[in-house]
Amino acid sequence: MILLASIPFASFGRSNGPTGLGPPAGRTGAPTDGPATQTCGACHRNAAALPQVPNTEGGSVAVSVVNYIPGQKQTIGVRITDTAGLRWGFQLTARLKTDETKVAGTFTANDDIRVRCGPAALGDTSPAAPCNGEVEFASHSLAATKPGTPNPGLFSVEWTPPAANVGEIIFYVAGNATNNSNTNVGDHIYTTNVTIQAAASKPLIAPSAAVVNGASFQAAISPNSWITIRGTDLAGSIRTWGPADFSGNSLPKTLDGVGVNVNNRAAYVYYISPTQINALAPGDTASGNISVEVVRSGLRSDPAPAVLNRVSPAFFVFKNDKYAAATHADGKFVGPTSLYPGASTPAKPGEVIALYGTGFGVTNPAIPEGLTVSTALELPTRPGVRIGSLTAEVQFAGLTAAGLYQINVKIPDQTPDGDHAVVADMGGVTSPAAGVLVTVAR
Ligand code: HEC
Repeated sequence: MILLASIPFASFGRSNGPTGLGPPAGRTGAPTDGPATQTCGACHRNAAALPQVPNTEGGSVAVSVVNYIPGQKQTIGVRITDTAGLRWGFQLTARLKTDETKVAGTFTANDDIRVRCGPAALGDTSPAAPCNGEVEFASHSLAATKPGTPNPGLFSVEWTPPAANVGEIIFYVAGNATNNSNTNVGDHIYTTNVTIQAAASKPLIAPSAAVVNGASFQAAISPNSWITIRGTDLAGSIRTWGPADFSGNSLPKTLDGVGVNVNNRAAYVYYISPTQINALAPGDTASGNISVEVVRSGLRSDPAPAVLNRVSPAFFVFKNDKYAAATHADGKFVGPTSLYPGASTPAKPGEVIALYGTGFGVTNPAIPEGLTVSTALELPTRPGVRIGSLTAEVQFAGLTAAGLYQINVKIPDQTPDGDHAVVADMGGVTSPAAGVLVTVAR
């Protein structure tokens, strides 16, 4: 009996009939598995002759899969849409984008999903999973074809990605919207593919001294001042804020999905890169030990310790980390002529130059939280500034741009020619002197 009954089924029944074999391996339309005609449409057709060209019957197949976290299992959705469908089937394969003959991850077999192993040429004789590194084909089980179920046809496939980041992964899928005739006629075949990549990894703030003053790169930071954060995977792109990042005159709290929290308040992000972020610390009345975290596309770094002080005055320096960023009244740079040849000149005794820094504290009127600065806001108390050993007269000190303090000082008449350290005292805190020089020449 068994032998007799098996004869007709073995010759016709392949996909879902009583033999329950399911579709042969290698029918997803993956280009490396065979010719373009080698889909379910090699056997299934609507009315036209075989092979049926996929995607010609007005429906579609779609795969919903998210970027993978290496080794972390996810459930992939396969959806076949076709208003004529009354019974459904599919086949899905996952390959490395760098070599599409190679498997990417493993599918889990269960009551609804069967998993066959490649190579694709094995067709009906392909073994069942585990596939031990061979390519895999996930398909519907007989029960999962759900005879009589109208549009759409839905399947869930559990997939475990490779344990390491293997770059892009491409999925090929074929879907069959059938008429539930239990034959290979009156059916509609659809194919598509989708590429994913490894999900961004969690940002990591460097383990020590990683959150620093944006001008001095020393430990103390302060509200409404520039900070620099160093680490890895901090961002996926490299850029500074641009006009499109502002809403009105509000500074951006994120750039490309990257944000910074200082003592649990959102900072304003100026520059992002994988290894460094420059941001404007938000206003805050707290001081002392606080924590800073970076959030990248919803992935949160571990908090990093930082010290928040009311003030942490520091001068910005030019590119070589030696000379104070300073300008003459006409806007040209102050520095030795060798610093920016043709663009920088020393300051003269008696001349008023502008120095630029951060961390000088609260202005009056107060600093506008998170807004661009349109008119200069003066500090109620001017810092004391020394150039070399001489006290310089401070003619203006205030905020002229977001987080940027401008200090106009007169070079003392007795200042000798040469390079002199410039320091500021603000509220009892002295700016770091190392590597902040002003060049004076008569
Ligand atoms: C080698 C030929 C062949 C290939 C390739 C093939 N099938 Fe089939 N399929 C059949 C035959 C024959 C039947 C008729 C029922 C049976 O014998 O199981 C069938 C039946 C089905 C049915 C039930 C049809 C209905 O109207 O009730 C589904 C669903 C199905 N196949 C899905 C697929 C999918 C999905 C693929 C591609 C991944 C595929 N098949 C590839 C031969 C094939």
